[in-house]
Amino acid sequence: MDEMTIQTIRTQPFSDQKPGTSGLRKKTRYFQQPHYLENFVQAIFNTLESPVGATLAVGGDGRYFNREAIQIILKMAVAAGFSEVIVGQYGFLSTPAASCVIRKYRTLGGIVLSASHNPGGPDEDFGVKFNAANGGPAPEGLTEAIYAASRSLEQYRIAEMADVDIDTCGDYRRGETRIRVIDPVEDYLELMRKLFDFEKIANLLQQPDFTFCFDAMHAITGIYAKALFEQALGAPAGTVINGTPLPDFGGGHPDPNLAHAEELVHRMFRADGPVLGAASDGDGDRNMILGREFYVTPSDSVAVIAANATLIPAYRKGLAGVARSMPTSCALDAVANKLGLACYETPTGWKFFGNLLDAGKITICGEESFGTGSDHVREKDGIWAVMCWLNILAERQQSVADIVKAHWAAYGRSYYTRHDYEGLSNEQGAAIMLHLRALAASSEQAIAAVAEAGHAIALASADDFAYTDPVDASVSRQQGVRFLFADGARVVYRLSGTGTVGATLRIYVEKPEPNLARHDEDTQTYLADLIRLAGHLSHLEALSGRTEPTVIT
Ligand code: G1P
Ligand code: ZN
Repeated sequence: MDEMTIQTIRTQPFSDQKPGTSGLRKKTRYFQQPHYLENFVQAIFNTLESPVGATLAVGGDGRYFNREAIQIILKMAVAAGFSEVIVGQYGFLSTPAASCVIRKYRTLGGIVLSASHNPGGPDEDFGVKFNAANGGPAPEGLTEAIYAASRSLEQYRIAEMADVDIDTCGDYRRGETRIRVIDPVEDYLELMRKLFDFEKIANLLQQPDFTFCFDAMHAITGIYAKALFEQALGAPAGTVINGTPLPDFGGGHPDPNLAHAEELVHRMFRADGPVLGAASDGDGDRNMILGREFYVTPSDSVAVIAANATLIPAYRKGLAGVARSMPTSCALDAVANKLGLACYETPTGWKFFGNLLDAGKITICGEESFGTGSDHVREKDGIWAVMCWLNILAERQQSVADIVKAHWAAYGRSYYTRHDYEGLSNEQGAAIMLHLRALAASSEQAIAAVAEAGHAIALASADDFAYTDPVDASVSRQQGVRFLFADGARVVYRLSGTGTVGATLRIYVEKPEPNLARHDEDTQTYLADLIRLAGHLSHLEALSGRTEPTVIT
């Protein structure tokens, strides 16, 4: 056995290593400053019960600095005494594949390097997430503990060793640690085979009148999508576009929405466009679903998947329950009501679904932010969502638009939009939320503000959403200010927890429409009154000078 020299490096704690909605995210250069990454990784290791003798999974979305960060983490994992570290080849693991690997190999957890849908590059974003042994994002208690550890950190430990050849699968020994470089796709593909009807989907994909386009946005799902759709399921070559993961995502913004998945949107919104279109984000946990000239909102997508779940082999026996994040539309609730399922409303962020999934209270869950998933892993899963749609389409042999319209006819349609105001200063963001919290806390003032805006429908209630986890009774407060109206409409406000500079205000607007005759209207027009009201209630213009959102989804 080689003797390993373990260095103990003295360091100063950083005060800003508090993980946000999804891990610690900063500008790449900030992460590259001496000791910054190392401190955070050591804080994670110090928080774990015992790395000694345990297995750790490591991988990332391939963005700029991924490879260097992985070598650092490997050296620190060896120093921490892990007996085994599993790494994706090339340093690749999509977020859902990392979750799959953690679960399959029963590791103590995993470190996933990603800033999700944020751009990558030396001047863009980088991030580090820790996932626990269940494969899910560290719950709040754990992220708090990591943060606390980071604040008093005085040293970290790192092995003096040669870099590991992460481009070649195989076993590598470093001191007492075995480092296994694995195919990042294989285990995930095997899991997909267990969940879906591959034969039916393959038949669909080979039907001459069925056309499918998957936009990997130059990010990590390229390798998964090519292996799954083109190789395993026989979709024609070229089905996957932008399929080679690049460190800067081709200079793009790898966020699957109508604004950023430009090439896909261009192909889909024409009379001879593909029957199904889909895209995924930087680390593969988000998805967007499109039909020919038809956009499926993420809130509708999870509702349609839940309503049709028994068409999919994995869910043939039915669902235990469902969950959505609070700002996500109530389309899923309508399905749950009809099917007699429990429907949980959680704060924003996938980590809140973990306990419900672990406890078997839910099977399928989703967020309005292009996140959909199930109990097969503990992360949202973009490719899984596309597979759900393929399986449903293979069974129903209808167009995407027809399936969604039939869904609205059966369950009602919930018109829904999210308006983001990016690039506000932290002070502006805080001032808007402070004002909204005060308004929501006083029903008199809130009612007066609604009346002053000339809104005809009565305010039913207003609050700052707080969540008590039904499994461990932990409480999360201040999760979004919401105004609920007598007609079921809602306006919700919260600040983003994933940005790296300034503040982003998100305004979510929803109104259910049971009347079939009104299911074909333009969303922004249909919701125009509520959107105006949302601006008025927040004093947006006075407090930020803004009148128009930067992104509408
Ligand atoms: C955003 C989304 C949220 C999602 C998270 C991670 O967080 O709104 O639903 O879980 O990204 O993908 P936010 O920036 O709003 O805090
Ligand atoms: Zn993501």
